[in-house]
Amino acid sequence: MAKELKRIIVLTSGGDAPGMNAAIRGVIRSCAYYGIEVYGSVRGYNGLIDNNIIPLSSQSASNIIQRGGTILKTARSKGFLTVEGRAEAAANLKALNIEAVVAIGGNGTYTGAQIFFEEHGIPMIGIPGTIDNDIWGTDFTLGFDTAVNTALDAVDKIRDTADSHDRLFFIEVMGRHSGAIAVDVGIAGGAEAILVPEIHTDLEHLVQLLEGANRRKKTSMIVIVAEGGDGGGIQKIAETVKERCPYFDIRVSVLGHLQRGGMPNARDRVLGSRLGYAAVRALREGKTHHAAGIVNNTIHFCELIEATTNKKEINTNLFTIAEILSY
Ligand code: F6P
Repeated sequence: MAKELKRIIVLTSGGDAPGMNAAIRGVIRSCAYYGIEVYGSVRGYNGLIDNNIIPLSSQSASNIIQRGGTILKTARSKGFLTVEGRAEAAANLKALNIEAVVAIGGNGTYTGAQIFFEEHGIPMIGIPGTIDNDIWGTDFTLGFDTAVNTALDAVDKIRDTADSHDRLFFIEVMGRHSGAIAVDVGIAGGAEAILVPEIHTDLEHLVQLLEGANRRKKTSMIVIVAEGGDGGGIQKIAETVKERCPYFDIRVSVLGHLQRGGMPNARDRVLGSRLGYAAVRALREGKTHHAAGIVNNTIHFCELIEATTNKKEINTNLFTIAEILSY
């Protein structure tokens, strides 16, 4: 074990994700167990800059494991992108004798953590918290599984209408840079096609696929579209298909932020609990610039720089499976 830790801080940054509270609880309770004082930074890195820092006790973690969102609030901090903002944050931490930070968030959060560690030498541990599941070094991010199931619930309901009216629905799910939600929702929802940012949107192929399904007497169809693809947006894609295939009765549905909120499911609560504990353990062991993750159901650490410079690949086999199974 490295030098004894006395005081740390936890924060959530970037988009909220179900399971963040479970991770906060994991950090708080592990600290209580090991006799470490724990603080919370309110609204992500902004709290460090504005000195909006609150003490957290074991009781602070009561009754939060099942709650969506984040009790510490979150933000995409503009101030932390600046040298001056980070210097202010470091000064505030030093004044309070806070020795290390656990930062729960996505790629932007990790990049901030890495730079902060390089500039100020303050140990930083990242916990992957984003519904996008686009962080390298972990099989799953917090909130992904819940978001997939939330979106799937909506898709199942829309399918009732698609089926009843013999319609073709285009449904947009979240993921500006990541098709992870789209792929899982598409396969689990039996979609005819899945469009994602990682793969060029081939509208000609899409039209042929839908025409083929129509010829095989499919009466209702669903196309899942991740928000960040290069097809020009869901509305334009739907209009193009309508121009080419006027016989389709087409509707567009954008699921939006309903995918981010809500109670975390069991998997995200367990994941948050394990990662929260792992982050505290890592700091006690002397890790200083690492990201916690889960690989093959085992806690795994990589350096923050590895997580931010490598890109998590999408499993392209899943598209083949989706296309065959919706034949
Ligand atoms: O990163 C999570 C995410 O939900 C993305 O899937 C989405 O593109 C983005 O955040 C939306 O961000 P905001 O809530 O700031 O509009």
